Parts: sequence; structure tokens; C-alpha cells
Amino acid sequence: MPQVSAFIKEFESMNHDLKDWQMKFATRAIHAGEEPDFLNGFGDVVSPVHFSSTFARASASEPTRGYDYSRTANPTRSALESKLASLEDARHGLAFSSGLAAETTVLLSLLEKGDHVVAGEDLYGGTRRLLTGVFARFGIHTTFTDITDAENVKKSITERTRLVWIESPSNPLLKVCDIRAISEFASAAGALTVVDNTFMSPYLQHPLALGADVVLHSTTKYVAGHSDVVGGAVMLSDDELHARLRYHQNAAGGIPSPFDCFLIMRGAKTLELRMRRHCHNAMEIASLIEGRREVKRVFYPGLESHPQHELARKQATGSGGMVSFELKGGGEASRRMLKRLKLFSLAESLGGVESLIEVPALMTHASVPEAERKRIGIGEGLVRASVGIEDISDLKDDITGALDSLSTF
Ligand SMILES: Cc1ncc(COP(=O)(O)O)c(C=O)c1O
Repeated sequence: MPQVSAFIKEFESMNHDLKDWQMKFATRAIHAGEEPDFLNGFGDVVSPVHFSSTFARASASEPTRGYDYSRTANPTRSALESKLASLEDARHGLAFSSGLAAETTVLLSLLEKGDHVVAGEDLYGGTRRLLTGVFARFGIHTTFTDITDAENVKKSITERTRLVWIESPSNPLLKVCDIRAISEFASAAGALTVVDNTFMSPYLQHPLALGADVVLHSTTKYVAGHSDVVGGAVMLSDDELHARLRYHQNAAGGIPSPFDCFLIMRGAKTLELRMRRHCHNAMEIASLIEGRREVKRVFYPGLESHPQHELARKQATGSGGMVSFELKGGGEASRRMLKRLKLFSLAESLGGVESLIEVPALMTHASVPEAERKRIGIGEGLVRASVGIEDISDLKDDITGALDSLSTF
């Protein structure tokens, strides 16, 4: 193909390697992992989707450019993994088929029978189920504690503690914990800190810079952002930990399809724009709800009334798109309100462009035992909203109309 080789010659001298350039977040979200490949490709500005499950070798002794079989590595997944690492300012990124596949791989990679985990008490229900319903069967025990007081983490650490697992803000009560203080306690005890950064997204918070060892995301949420793909990610900078995770990613096999990698990459390109709008809309909704008499309490780190408002401001560059609130009328009121909403869809999940709303006690956190839910403060009157990026006046009208219907409570 003479034309192609002429192009290759022309571009060979150009430096298209963007790795050494300290680009800003929005630029990296678009370009990282997707530099046009003039030498081996056609200069695609978007990473091609490599559907092949296996790669032919030019010679039996080595794989073609490092790719052999797509469970182990796939060029589209590599592009996504480079982008994910860049977004969290990490040396390494790994992509998984779901947030829970990422969590499972982290736990399998870093723990042995008899090890102990300290975790936040209002984690995502699925994470709690994984720890208590699956890993406990293999002799790995977890102590759940209120991590808004870092001292509680210190008190819960035993000589067998290998991991401290936290979310900040937490799900669904939006409690904020001090990532730096907790990471220091963990590190002093020889344990690693894993931060589930799903609620903040890599745009608003960088746990690695605050001392955490591993960052995890359900990319299903803000990173992909369009409620059309399920995925997970782990980002970290330690080479040895990365090698262990890479080994278990291949050994356990919870990898995303090349097309899912493409969708997550496409979504991630607009992360900054979307997060700015999520933060703006959520703050408006939280303020509106806080002023309503039907509401007992609002949980949003951006409100001055939030108990860890100052810490949240210090630790992250925005308060995110999640708002929880407790209705005075309990379960009956939450059911009535949800029926009246027109734009907020009654659905699990979060972080998409469209607004969603749910009752954690009946939906995302139904797997948490009832007594434990009550103790933590997750009753049927608690509602969790994922505020989308629609026009804010429409969202406010929708919430106002639904709250007006509670006038009898
Ligand atoms: C904070 C958090 N972490 C992890 C997960 C699990 O991710 P996935 O549903 O992609 O497996 C979820 C799911 O809702 C979540 O909200």
C-alpha cells in the first residue's frame, strides 16, 4: 500500500506521544489512551474497537505487540485503562466488567484466609454483601464502623487487619470521612486503604493524593455517565500491587468487553462538563429540599448544615450529584412522593445524565439486614436522588410538585 507507507514516513518524525505533557483534566479525559497511531494504525482519533478474542502471532515465540488473548489484554481495554489511570493521576489503571468485579478482584488479590478488613458502616449495600456474604465464607472478617470519626478506624484495626475500605461521601447517607487521616492510621498498622471514589468521580476527588493506596470506581456511574454500560475500574500507582491485581484480573477473568470499553471511554470524555453541571443542579435541589417543611433532614456535603461540610470542601473540589433526604412522613410519604415525580425516574443506579431517585431501604440497600439499616439510619422515609444534568428549572418544578403532594403529612 504505497499511499499508506508514504503517510507513515511523513508522520514518523512527528512526536504524538502525549505522556510527558502535563495536560489538564478535560484534555486528558479526551486524549489519554487515544493518541492517533500513525505507525501501526490509520491515525484514528477515537480508539478502534478491537473485537478479536485472540491475536495471530507472526512467530510462535512471542505475541503480536504484547497481545495474545483478550481476557489477558485487549488493545481497546488498554486504551481505556490508560485513560482511567490518567484521570486519577495514577500510574496504572485496570478495567473490569462491573464495579463489583473490580471489588472482588481487589479482595482476592490483597487478602488471605484469616485476614481482617475495617470498612465504613454505610457502604454501598453490594459491597457489604460481598464482604459479609461471600468473603466471610473464606475466613475474611470485616468490622464495620462509623468512619466519620477516623479514631473509630484506628480502634477497629487488629493485628490481622490488611485492608481499610472506605467510601467518601458514603452511600446513601453522604457522610464524609477524612481520607488522609484514615490512610495514615491504616499505613501505620501495615494495612492498605481502598477508596471507592464512585460518588465523587475522578474529577472531584483524588484519594491517591490524599494517601490512599487503591482507588476503585463503578464506572457504570459518573465515569461512563449515560446509564448504558456496566463497568468497574481500579487505579493505583504501586507497581507491585498492580502486578498482583493484573495477575488476578487475568486469573479470575472479570473483564469488560471491547465495546463496553469503547462506551466507557466515550462517556469519560465529557466527565468534567457533566460533573460541573451535576454539582450545580444537586446544590440547587439540596437547597430547595432543605427549605421544605415535609423534610426532616437533607444529606448533601455542599450544604453548610452538613456535619462534615468543611472537610468536604478541603478534600474535594465539588460536592457531587447525589442528594439524600429523610421525609417526615416516613415510608408512606416516600412512596407517595415517588409516584408524583415525572422527570426523576424511580430506579437504582446513579451518575447518568438523567435524574434518578430511589428508596435505599427497599432497593439499593435491601440486602443490608433490617436491624443494621435501622441502626445506621436507613429507614423507608429516606430517599436518595441522583441529580442529572437536565435544565434545573424543570428538576425543581418536578421536586416541588411531588413535595406539595405531601401536604397532609
Ligand atoms: C458506590 C458504589 N460502589 C460500587 C458499586 C458496584 O458497582 P456495579 O454496579 O458497577 O457492580 C455501586 C453500585 O451501585 C456503588 O454505588
